[in-house]
Amino acid sequence: MRSLRRLQPYFHYLWAQRRTVPAAIVYGALYAATSGFGLPTLIQYVFPPIFAPGGGLETSTVAMIAACIPLAFLLRGITGYLNSYYTQLTGVRILEAIRLDYFRKLQVLPLSFVQNRQVGDLISRGLSDTAQLQQAITLMANDGIKQPLTLVMALGYLVWQAFTGQGVGIVLLCLAIIPLAIFPVRFVGRKIVKRAQVLQAQLGSATSVFSENLAASREVRAFGLEQQQTNRFGALTHDLVISQMKIVKYAQALTPAIEVISAGGVALTMFLAYDTGISLDAFLALVGALYFAYEPMKKIGALNNELKRAGASLDRLEVVLLEPVSIADPVSPVTVDRLKGELTFANVTFAYKTGETVLHDLTMRIPAGAVCALVGPSGAGKSTFVNLVPRFFEATGGKVLIDGLDVRDMRLADLRRNIAIVSQDPVLFNDSIYNNLLLGRPDAQRDEVIAAAKNAFAHDFIIAEKDGYDSIVGERGVRLSGGQKQRIALARAFLRNAPILILDEATSALDSESEAYIQTALQSLVVGKTVLIIAHRFSTIRDASMILVFNQGRIVASGTHADLHAQSALYRSLYDRQSGGT
Ligand SMILES: Nc1ncnc2c1ncn2[C@@H]1O[C@H](COP(=O)(O)OP(=O)(O)OP(=O)(O)O)[C@@H](O)[C@H]1O
Ligand SMILES: [Mg+2]
Repeated sequence: MRSLRRLQPYFHYLWAQRRTVPAAIVYGALYAATSGFGLPTLIQYVFPPIFAPGGGLETSTVAMIAACIPLAFLLRGITGYLNSYYTQLTGVRILEAIRLDYFRKLQVLPLSFVQNRQVGDLISRGLSDTAQLQQAITLMANDGIKQPLTLVMALGYLVWQAFTGQGVGIVLLCLAIIPLAIFPVRFVGRKIVKRAQVLQAQLGSATSVFSENLAASREVRAFGLEQQQTNRFGALTHDLVISQMKIVKYAQALTPAIEVISAGGVALTMFLAYDTGISLDAFLALVGALYFAYEPMKKIGALNNELKRAGASLDRLEVVLLEPVSIADPVSPVTVDRLKGELTFANVTFAYKTGETVLHDLTMRIPAGAVCALVGPSGAGKSTFVNLVPRFFEATGGKVLIDGLDVRDMRLADLRRNIAIVSQDPVLFNDSIYNNLLLGRPDAQRDEVIAAAKNAFAHDFIIAEKDGYDSIVGERGVRLSGGQKQRIALARAFLRNAPILILDEATSALDSESEAYIQTALQSLVVGKTVLIIAHRFSTIRDASMILVFNQGRIVASGTHADLHAQSALYRSLYDRQSGGT
C-alpha cells in the first residue's frame, strides 16, 4: 500500500508509544479470543449437555454452566475496555506529539513563512489535520496487525482444506474471488484522496474566516458586516457539508460492495458444492473461512480509506513540517556577549518575492550610540530595513554587520538578546502585567521590573489597577489603552537594556499626556544605545543624531537635520509636512 509507505516516516510517533501499543494489541487479541472463540465454544460444547435428551444433570452443574455466561461477558467486557483504553491513550499521546512538533516548527520558521499564510489555515492544520493523522495511526495500531493476520489465517485454512482433499476446485475458486474485493478498495481509496484534500483545505478556509472575523469584531460592528460575514462563513460551511458527503458516499459504498462480492463467492461455492456433492460440514467450514477472509478485507478497506485521508492531511502538515528553517543558527557560531552596536549595511538587497526587489543595494554605517531616524514615504522600505537587523528576514544580497560581525555568523539567541524592539502596535500576552514586563528579561528581579516600569511612566497606572502588577491584560492586551500598552512595551525595552534599540513610532495620535510621557521615557531609554527609529514625529526627527531618507527602497539622502534640510528636497517636503501637521 502506497499510503502506508507515505506514513512510514511518521511511525516513530507510534514507536514512541511502544509501552502502550503492545498492551492495546494483547487486550485486543484477548477480546477477539473471548468473543470469536469463547462464545461459540460455549454454544457448541457447554450448552448441549443441558438440553441433551434424558440429561438429568445436577442443579449445581447447571448453575455452574449458567454462571459461565456472565463470566464470559465479564472477561469480554474487561478486555474490550482495556483494549479501547490503551488504543485511545496511544492515540491522544500521538496527537500530542504531532501537534507539539507542528507548533514547535512554527516557532522557528522565518517570519515571512507565517506572514504569507492565513493564520486560520495554519491553526486548522495544527488541530484538524493532526487529528486526522492520529485517527489513521491508531486505526493502524488496532487493525493494521489484527486484520491482515486474520486474513492470512483464513487463507491458510482454505489452502489447508484444499490439501486435505475437500474439492480442490472449489477452494481454488474461493481463493480466486478474494482478489476481486481489492478493486472496490482501490477505487474508493483513489476517490477519497482528492476529496479529502479538498475537505481539509476547506476546513482551513473556514477556520481562517472564523479567526479573521473574531479579530475584526469591532470592524464588523462598525461597518455593519454582520450579515455579510455570516453569509461568507455559511457558504464555506455549506461547501464543507458537500465535501464531507462526497467522502461519505464513497467510503460507505465500500462495505456493501465487498459484501456483494463475498455473497457472490458464497453462492458460487454453494453451487459448486452441490455439483460435486461435498458434505454439509465441509461446505459450512468453507463458507466460514470465506467469511473470515472477506471480513478483514472490509476492515482493511476502511483502514485504507483512513490512511488515504491521513495522507491528504499529511501533505498539509508537511507544508510546515518539511519547510526548511532558512533562518537558523550557523554551524560554527561566533561567540558573542554584549555587542557595542555599530551597524553596517553592506550592499544589502532584499526582496520578499523573487523579482520584486524592495531594498536596492543599500550601503550605510551607523556608529554605535547613534540615534538614527528613518524617514520616507509609506512603502519606501523603512520597516523592511530595520527587520533585517534581528534577522526577521534575510538579506537577499549583501551583508548586515554588527560590530563588524555578520549577523548570520552569530547564534540567533545571542543576536536577538542584543536587540530591544518597540513596535507600533505592541502585543501583550494574556497574562499578568508583571509577566508581560518580565518578557523583556526573564531573569530580572522584582525591583528591576518595577524600576523599568517607573522609567517608562507605567508604574502609576499599573498600581492604580485593581490587582496592580498582577492584573491580567486580556488577549493581546485588549484591557489596556494604546498609550498604556506602549508604555509597557517601553518598560520591557528598559528592562532588556540591549545595546541596540529598534523603535517603530506609533502613527496613531495618543492623547497629549501619554504622548508627553512616552517622549520623556524615550529620551532616557535611548541613552548609550544605537537606536533605529522609524520616525513620524517632528520632535523625534529633530533630536536624532543622524537621519536616513528612504525612497522606493533606496537611501536617497543621509545626514543631520540641518544638512538634509539644506540639501534634500524630498526631506524638506516630508519634514515640512510633518512639522506642519503637529
Ligand atoms: N510581508 C511582505 N510581503 C511582501 N511584500 C511586503 C511585505 N511587507 C512589506 N512589503 C512591501 O515592501 C515594500 C516596503 O515596505 P515597508 O513595510 O518596508 O515600508 P515602510 O517604509 O515601512 O512603509 P510605512 O511607512 O507605511 O510603514 C512595500 O512595497 C510593501 O508593499
Ligand atoms: Mg513600516
